[in-house]
This record gives sequence, structure tokens and C-alpha cells, in this order.
Amino acid sequence: MNASVTVRVPAKVNVQLAVGPARPDGFHDLANVFLAVGLYDEVTVTPADGLRVTCEGPDAGQVPLDRTNLAARAAEALAGRYGRSPDVHVHIAKDIPVAGGMAGGSADGAGALLACDALWGTGASRDELLEICAELGSDVPFSLVGGAALGTGRGERLTALETGGTFHWVFAMADRGLSTPAVFREFDRLGEGTDIPGPVASRPLIDALAKGDPDALAAAVSNDLQPAALSLFPELAATLAAGRAAGALAALVSGSGPTTAFLARDAAAAAAVAGALRASGTCRTVRTASGPVPGATVLDR
Ligand code: C5P
Repeated sequence: MNASVTVRVPAKVNVQLAVGPARPDGFHDLANVFLAVGLYDEVTVTPADGLRVTCEGPDAGQVPLDRTNLAARAAEALAGRYGRSPDVHVHIAKDIPVAGGMAGGSADGAGALLACDALWGTGASRDELLEICAELGSDVPFSLVGGAALGTGRGERLTALETGGTFHWVFAMADRGLSTPAVFREFDRLGEGTDIPGPVASRPLIDALAKGDPDALAAAVSNDLQPAALSLFPELAATLAAGRAAGALAALVSGSGPTTAFLARDAAAAAAVAGALRASGTCRTVRTASGPVPGATVLDR
């Protein structure tokens, strides 16, 4: 048996996030177009006496190390299915912002699942792994598959999308996080008394991805959670404005925020936008990353 297995898992940005009304179960139907981008967490699992989670990285202090961590829940879920104990040390090398709207927690869930599967040699099928991912959270299946995909239902039912090129992004991290349930609650509050339509995927957006056309993608991006994120975190408006002023083709909140995402025409333009955002003093850190990139991948070590 391998002594340990490491899996690398990317962050995501939502290029479209269309949100329907709250369902009876409290979730919202979505048309959620995910793009995996090259910011990564690495999840390493090693046989141990019991289940234990550790984390390193600049934001490690904000990561829960108990059984609420999706990586711990993933190990438990897979072990439960295969009638074994989840006796692993899960170590997360964290580079994806915490509570940032880039699916960092989901990435760790998908990463731990794939790593434990490889460590234990369960022989689980891809569909079985995707089913466990969907039980862990709405964004977890996408962290496993990566690339570009449309998520429907609560975001967990995926259809792969074609991409005709690489898209260059700049991400501005905020100095505090936002809770996803709180942002959805704010979406509900802001929409009270209005008739919220069912979510529909944008055809121009899907075509722009397929063509690899950044201008067309910029014209089509949208995030229905953005007003709710801005309502809870008004300072983000200044970050979005700074990125637009620096020449970003599009500026939007990533998922439930508070990370903001800026689309650039090419790598050089992304570097220029990143420099301007750093100088603007409107965010904590700035990173560039491009996508699509593959989903959770076992590293050969
Ligand atoms: O599925 P996940 O655990 O990531 O969802 C976190 C929270 O985000 C849910 O408890 C819910 O409040 C909200 N959510 C939602 N509709 C979705 C996905 C998430 O309301 N489609």
C-alpha cells in the first residue's frame, strides 16, 4: 500500500450564476457555469490511528480542523460506504482563499475523497465518487471534474462545457470572508415580494466559452448573488471599480464572494490589472490564474 497520496485540486470561478427562488428544502435552483482556474489546494492523506485534519498556508488559521471540514466528511463518507474506518491523517496545503467564493472547502472535500479512494484502493466508480461529492456539497462535484461545466439543480448536476481557449483572470482577496448561506439568505431578503424567475443558462456565454473569446465572455458574465454579496460587504464595490478602471474586460464577485474576479484579454493584461489592484489598496492580496484546468488529480510522487 502507498504510504501517502497527494491530490491537487483547483479553485473555481462562476462565470454565470443564475439563482432561482428558494426551494422548499431551502436550497436554490441554479444555472451555475463553473470554470476551474489554476489556484490549487493540495490534499495529502496518510494512514493514521484515527481521522485527523491539519492545514498549512496563509489562511490556515481560518480552516476548521474538526469533523465539519469537508475533507474529514469525505473520508468518513467513503470509509462508511466501504465498511472501513476513516483512519487517515488529512493534510491540506491551502492556497485557495478561505470563505472566498472560490470553492476552497469543496476542493478539499473532492481532494480528500479522491486521495482516500486511491490510498484504500476501493475501486469506486467515477459516478459513485460524484454521488458522494454531491452529498458533501453543491460545488464539490465540480471540484472533482474541473474544466468548464454547467451545474443545474443546486449546482451539483453537471454537464461538461467546451472551451476554445484559455481565459486569463485576476482575483482580489478580501480581508474577511463571507458565509455562503448568509449570502443566499440576503439574496432571499432582497428579492422578497418580487417574482424571481427560474434560472436559465446563457447561450451567448456558453458560445463565448466554446470560442475562447474573452470579449464575448466579458459581455456575458453575470452573478445573481452579487447584489447580496455587495449588500453584506459594500467595500467590494471599490475593488470592482478599481479593476474596471485598470482595464479589466469584466469585473464580478466570484460565487458568493467576497473574492472579486477580473477577466483580462491575455496574460500581460492580467498582470497589469493585478498591479493596479495591488496599488489600489482596496483588497488584501491579488493573484492571477487562468483556466480551464483539470479537476482533482492524483500527483505522482
Ligand atoms: O451545498 P452547500 O453545502 O455548499 O451549500 C451551502 C449553503 O449555501 C446551503 O446551506 C444553502 O444555504 C446555500 N445554497 C443554496 N442553494 C444552492 C447551493 C447552496 O441556497 N443551490
